[in-house]
Amino acid sequence: MRLIFTTQALLALATTSFGQIYDTFNSITALAGTANDSDPAILGNYYNYWKLTNNKTTYDLTRSDRMPVTSPKVIPMIGSRKQAIIEPNRTAMVIVDMQNFFLHPQLSPHAVNGRKAVQPTLNMINAFRATGMKILWVNWGIDNFDMVTLPPSFLEGFSSNHEMNTTFCTEMGTLTETNGTTVDMGKLLCRGSWNAQPWGPLYPAMVEGLENGTDFYFNKNRLSGLWGAQTPLGLYLQESETTTLFLGGVNSDQCVWGNLIDAYFRGFDTVYVEDCAGTTSPWYAEEMVRYNADLDGFLANSTYVIDALEKQK
Ligand SMILES: *[C@@H]1O[C@H](CO)[C@@H](O)[C@H](O)[C@H]1NC(C)=O
Ligand SMILES: *[C@@H]1O[C@H](CO)[C@@H](O)[C@H](O)[C@H]1NC(C)=O
Ligand SMILES: *[C@@H]1O[C@H](CO)[C@@H](O)[C@H](O)[C@H]1NC(C)=O
Ligand SMILES: *[C@@H]1O[C@H](CO)[C@@H](O)[C@H](O)[C@H]1NC(C)=O
Ligand SMILES: *[C@@H]1O[C@H](CO)[C@@H](O)[C@H](O)[C@H]1NC(C)=O
Ligand SMILES: *[C@@H]1O[C@H](CO)[C@@H](O)[C@H](O)[C@H]1NC(C)=O
Ligand SMILES: *[C@@H]1O[C@H](CO)[C@@H](O)[C@H](O)[C@H]1NC(C)=O
Repeated sequence: MRLIFTTQALLALATTSFGQIYDTFNSITALAGTANDSDPAILGNYYNYWKLTNNKTTYDLTRSDRMPVTSPKVIPMIGSRKQAIIEPNRTAMVIVDMQNFFLHPQLSPHAVNGRKAVQPTLNMINAFRATGMKILWVNWGIDNFDMVTLPPSFLEGFSSNHEMNTTFCTEMGTLTETNGTTVDMGKLLCRGSWNAQPWGPLYPAMVEGLENGTDFYFNKNRLSGLWGAQTPLGLYLQESETTTLFLGGVNSDQCVWGNLIDAYFRGFDTVYVEDCAGTTSPWYAEEMVRYNADLDGFLANSTYVIDALEKQK
């Protein structure tokens, strides 16, 4: 008897709480205040939405019902979504890990695709700056606190002898450039070290952009700069109300993908700029990135993006 009573009481409770858990549409509508399914062109809610126009061929990413627009640009895409309209004030180019460690020919001789992505990336940087769109450098930059909390999988992954004495933030020694100059490589992907600086012409480009305030630099301590509750990159994107991210860098399937998928999970628009990214992984890893970046957002080629930006100056 007592058992039956308890079971019934529990069932009643469960029914009530399941009702609250599952039947949330109305309360969310009330919360957002403006969820609007009367306009079939809108995907999303008042705070975060796309508007499909031009017979569903153009994705308007400007959120212009809610936020002011400056000079929106129409950008041709090369994936299954063919065209997008972006608001420059809320759009940024994210450049991931194009550091000496990953791109210098002596440190990463196989990074042929990554080095091929450097010139298109420089072109994108110039075009984005000229349109008032920010450049966000997102790089490994391990500090002492990270060393205390990094998981073993990461420490092993970056160790050449499966021991702590060759992993992150251990001295890498010196390197002699082809012109005879010797450089101190510093500590492995440690914040402020030479090996953690952008490679080749990207370094002066970054320094100039940081000085001019067109570029921002973000250290990260995982593949992604957007993992976990709060990261410098995540806070910046939130505070600047950035909605739309073009992404490139190395390696496409590792750190670029990590940032892209986290950005997608968090509700940003992601644009994978194919020729601004590269990997040392097998070809199928790059194919995976392109396949899924197309499903999750947009695919672009720097040549067409830059051309479109110039025509809409
Ligand atoms: C919903 O969208 C339509 C079309 O954009 C607009 O006319 C209408 O005012 C909107 N309704 C609400 C409640 O925002
Ligand atoms: C819109 O697109 C659909 C599907 O591609 C097509 O059948 C239709 O003719 C198009 N309508 C106009 C007005 O272009
Ligand atoms: C957006 O525009 C405002 C006003 O011009 C400016 O202060 C702000 O820095 C811009 N934000 C970004 C991310 O460019
Ligand atoms: C790392 O430590 C091992 C001993 O555990 C030693 O044999 C090896 O030489 C050390 N390597 C470096 C790069 O210090
Ligand atoms: C040698 O080459 C490196 C890498 O390209 C460059 O940073 C450095 O300035 C060069 N040094 C001289 C003396 O030309
Ligand atoms: C930096 O600002 C100066 C002065 O406005 C300008 O001449 C230069 O082209 C800018 N450089 C970059 C990289 O934006
Ligand atoms: C993308 O642009 C590059 C140059 O940056 C060009 O060589 C390549 O053919 C383009 N790819 C496609 C698919 O259009």
